[in-house]
Amino acid sequence: MVQLTGPKSIKCAVFISGAGSNLKSLIQFSKRKNSPISIELIISDNSKAKGLKFGKIFKISSKVFNYKNRLIAEKKIISEIKKKKIKIICLAGFMRVLSKDFLKSFKGKILNIHPSLLPKYKGLNTHHRAISNNEKYSGCTVHFVNSKLDSGKIILQKKVKITKSETAKSLAKKILVQEHKLYPKAIKEVFNL
Ligand code: GAR
Repeated sequence: MVQLTGPKSIKCAVFISGAGSNLKSLIQFSKRKNSPISIELIISDNSKAKGLKFGKIFKISSKVFNYKNRLIAEKKIISEIKKKKIKIICLAGFMRVLSKDFLKSFKGKILNIHPSLLPKYKGLNTHHRAISNNEKYSGCTVHFVNSKLDSGKIILQKKVKITKSETAKSLAKKILVQEHKLYPKAIKEVFNL
């Protein structure tokens, strides 16, 4: 169990594959006075991920790993994470499933954010599927990670109303706004703050 000894005592790594808007919101959260986390490392499977720019802007060490071979990529990531004494990993738009071996090797907590009200709409195209099924609500979920896609114990969820004229794009935008608030809240919840 991770013991909280003071503000910013928990070293965090954020994993991204794309735009990194959740990464940005987590960095902003980490810079707040009483934040429990300090973001020490950004990891990406995609050298073109736009979110990597936040590493440069906020001077946080960023590493890209080639995922052609997941086993090798994960071994390198684990070594990096051990070097930096990372205690919590936040997946933020990281479009890979972590292997059972990875989960066994990393002793800390791993969280993920997903843009649906899990267990509904795991995987890709969540917004499109929710609208096509005439759902009245969608939303976002922060959950602990296990070796199955978008599964694992739910920490927090936020509901978002789907309007009559909703498109996948407008819904994604609306949900992202809530994601940026929900992820920091869920981290606080995990550490009983
Ligand atoms: C977010 O909507 C996140 O919930 C989703 O990817 C987007 C990343 O946006 N994650 C998943 O679908 C994971 N299954 P961002 O790069 O701007 O944070």
